[in-house]
Amino acid sequence: MSEIINYYDKIAAEYNSDRFANSYGKFIDRQERKILDKLLPNKDELVLDLACGSGRLLNYAVYGVDGSQEMIKIAKEKYPDKEIFHSDAEKLLFENNSLDAIISFHFFMHLDKVRIKKILEECSRVLKPGGSMIFDIPAARRRKLISYNKSGWHGNLALSKADTVDLNTDFVIKRSFGLLLFPIHRIPKKMRLLFNSLDYFLANSLLKKYSSYHVYEMIKK
Ligand SMILES: C[S@@+](CC[C@H](N)C(=O)[O-])C[C@H]1O[C@@H](n2cnc3c(N)ncnc32)[C@H](O)[C@@H]1O
Repeated sequence: MSEIINYYDKIAAEYNSDRFANSYGKFIDRQERKILDKLLPNKDELVLDLACGSGRLLNYAVYGVDGSQEMIKIAKEKYPDKEIFHSDAEKLLFENNSLDAIISFHFFMHLDKVRIKKILEECSRVLKPGGSMIFDIPAARRRKLISYNKSGWHGNLALSKADTVDLNTDFVIKRSFGLLLFPIHRIPKKMRLLFNSLDYFLANSLLKKYSSYHVYEMIKK
């Protein structure tokens, strides 16, 4: 089993409360949902949440896939009616050209480009032509700006738009969004959510290139 899966198996029970019940986690969750509400308005579409974890964003999907049995156990308790599969992201159990969209959050940042390219090949196989691949990734420019020191696989990768275009030629980038422009950890905890809309607005203004994360919507040709 990979180090990453092993890690998520061990922290599965606390993952959602540790990461998303605090003011920082709520902040990012709210902005991600704003983007997903915009990108996935049609509730009838066949959407897969890839690396769905314990199901934080599974309300947007019909299917979930994750490599951690323990994360899946919790996701299934939350969403007993959804089809959630245990598999590696590189080998999906779906037919060719069968899905309308794939979302994948807080996942690609753990990987390297070679692995992401393989996963995107698999996503391209299962998406219908015109289907969308929606994912987040730390922004290379922001990391340079703050002289981010990478340590270990957790925050392994950041990409520029040009790097993202290079990942797979089956896709074209339709649009991108910025997330987290303010250094949120410097804002007092009680005040943070008050800044959410302003931060979202600025992260999607001319300052987008300086946001901490970008969410890409890529369309399969
Ligand atoms: C940070 S969690 C993200 C969970 C969820 N997408 C979210 O945003 O809350 C990363 C997830 O990726 C899963 N994962 C890691 N490597 C994987 C792989 N090769 N195939 C499928 N899932 C994998 C982990 O088990 C973990 O649940």
